[in-house]
Amino acid sequence: MTQTRAIATPAPWNDVADAYTAEVALELAPYSADAIELLNPAPDAVVLDVACGPGTCTLQLAPRVARVDAVDFATEMVARLQKRLTTEGVDNVHARVMDGQALGFDDGQFDAAFCMFGLMFFADPRRGLSELVRVLAPGGRAVVATWAHPERSPMMQQIVGALTAALPGLSPPPPAVPLDTAAHVGAALTAAGLVDVEVRAIRHGRDVRSAETLWRYFEQGGAPIKLLRASMGAASWQGVEAVVLATLRSTLPPLPAVLESEALVGIGRRP
Ligand SMILES: C[S@@+](CC[C@H](N)C(=O)[O-])C[C@H]1O[C@@H](n2cnc3c(N)ncnc32)[C@H](O)[C@@H]1O
Repeated sequence: MTQTRAIATPAPWNDVADAYTAEVALELAPYSADAIELLNPAPDAVVLDVACGPGTCTLQLAPRVARVDAVDFATEMVARLQKRLTTEGVDNVHARVMDGQALGFDDGQFDAAFCMFGLMFFADPRRGLSELVRVLAPGGRAVVATWAHPERSPMMQQIVGALTAALPGLSPPPPAVPLDTAAHVGAALTAAGLVDVEVRAIRHGRDVRSAETLWRYFEQGGAPIKLLRASMGAASWQGVEAVVLATLRSTLPPLPAVLESEALVGIGRRP
């Protein structure tokens, strides 16, 4: 029997919803902006955003298209998006709680579908992709974003290096489907039945001012690190933090500095 990875359940995402909305979503917004430019949806398009989080992509899509259906399996993420929709007076977005692996939509109902930084956390990414393709109309296009391997991202290298220094035996569970190279992403989109598949590597930077602020960003807004913390006692975690911060202080370049992260953005069309 396969055990569901904890990151493939809503709980850790609900736990980070506040910090994610306040900080991570702002950092990830430029990747969504690039993905929207790449797809360039028509003004009358009906679009789906799967694993929408607090609306990082949805809120940028809404002014450009006729309607956005935004879904996420974490109730707290959807609640943050609902609040932003009300505050910003957006009335063409329909947000609801839904598992991306079992979409409650008819076949062929969308002109375009996005899944930004969600698929790699699904218990069954192939199922998520096949659902994304199923709900696209013939000719409709899907965009999927994942993180490139940490060796491509100076920011991830810093965090992974510091965590490994603190926890030398740390070995995160392998992903259900590897999606951290352009070849992997392209193969996954093609296997799901998409054609004209193209994958772009896109980099954006974070302005890093101190080891502490970088660590807090990951510790409070990053679901994988929240899970790691929950698996350890408070005292052990304090020890981990001390080594992480000492390592970051010695490995970070002179600050302030901009550290980049590379995303892979794949696009394909349903025949
Ligand atoms: C890293 S966040 C990305 C959020 C948003 N797309 C963005 O770009 O900021 C990953 C999101 O995927 C959602 N998620 C993970 N597995 C999911 C699933 N099986 N169905 C729906 N949402 C899922 C999480 O709740 C979380 O909001």
